[in-house]
Amino acid sequence: MNNFDFRNPTHILFGKGRIADLKDQVPAGAKVLIIYGGGSAERTGVLAQVHEALADHTLVEFGGIEPNPRFETALKAVELIGEEDITFLLAVGGGSVIDATKFIAAAALYDGDAWDILTLRGSVVTDAMPFGTVLTLPATGSEMNPASVITHAEKGAKLPFMSAHCYPVFSVLDPEVTYSLPPRQIANGVADAFVHIIEQYLTYPAAARVQDGFAETLLRTLIELGPKALETPKDYDIRANLMWTATLALNGLIGAGVPQDWASHMIGHEITALNDTDHARTLAVVLPSLMHDQRGPKREKLLQYAANVWDIREGSDDDRIDAAIKATRGFFEAMGIKTRLGDYDIAAPEIDRIVNALKDHGLTALGEHAAIAPDDARRILEAAL
Ligand code: NZQ
Ligand code: ZN
Repeated sequence: MNNFDFRNPTHILFGKGRIADLKDQVPAGAKVLIIYGGGSAERTGVLAQVHEALADHTLVEFGGIEPNPRFETALKAVELIGEEDITFLLAVGGGSVIDATKFIAAAALYDGDAWDILTLRGSVVTDAMPFGTVLTLPATGSEMNPASVITHAEKGAKLPFMSAHCYPVFSVLDPEVTYSLPPRQIANGVADAFVHIIEQYLTYPAAARVQDGFAETLLRTLIELGPKALETPKDYDIRANLMWTATLALNGLIGAGVPQDWASHMIGHEITALNDTDHARTLAVVLPSLMHDQRGPKREKLLQYAANVWDIREGSDDDRIDAAIKATRGFFEAMGIKTRLGDYDIAAPEIDRIVNALKDHGLTALGEHAAIAPDDARRILEAAL
């Protein structure tokens, strides 16, 4: 196992009715900016619950954060923070709203050009405003991690950043607020969490028994409960398990002390930057192809994955790896997520643009061995057509 530091300061408030507890979490006397998305929080009554809980606080609202949140929109919120003397931020929404809030929290206290935060991947962030979250879409893990992904539409760039200053102070996880999710977003959430686990697990053995065991349990939970969440959308225990699984998938726990990949994510971000394909769908396209392409370097973990996650134990090594890749693709398809580039209007000419974008963004040595160069990404994408 590799050396590691593990510290996750986010306070989780999990369960039914927990939005009411916001009143004890948001500092007394704070002037709060509530940040939300395109209107789901209003429609579903979550925003009303937040207002009720914070009736004794001074509240200002900023709505309109887009899925794949935009740099330009986030900067408008930064302006409002200055105008209104805001002291605390509260994100109410999915990963996009939480990611935007992290960026806003950092940009509000950054003296230079806020674009630096993204191009320099968060290294220039020395402080951020405090913020909490009310999660409405289990998927990204953003509610308990220090990462954020922001899109600059004009530049055609979707860039991640990370900063230890960008952990939420607290996150409220009420599974009942996820009942209103449409099937497409339930499926996206399950697939995104699945690939987060894979990016930290499917590399090469590092004698990390606990991390591997946790990862395998989380994967099996998603495989079992994902389709059930689509069939019985108002089953509390299914939603609660999916919500906690998605948080644990990317809160640092299973990634501590192990090699990590993230190539599917970096390639997937360029697909979204190209044509706004949902994040999770880009992953469902890239991952099966990448698993096939990288079957050499990932051999031992692919065999472990086949056995411990899919119970595939018969046949030659190659047969078992093929069966595990097929099962992975089948799982995404069973969740209603197509797994070919052509399903998202991407053909050979767009592959050039994706590969060039990876080069432009310096993403030329991806994967756990930093060995996936642009030509390898091209081969992976061509096999995904
Ligand atoms: O905008 P509103 O109206 O709120 O509607 C949203 C949006 O249209 C809707 N929604 C959210 N909660 C709902 C709901 N609709 C009904 N009922 C509810 N309870 O769902 C749509 C998608 O929301 P979004 O926040 O975009 O989805 P998600 O949570 O999947 O976040 C995706 C973003 O997170 C980034 C992705 O790149 C993408 O930009 N990621 C962030 C990560 C991180 N911070 O660690 C890691 C991930 O790998 C990922 O890259
Ligand atoms: Zn993701």
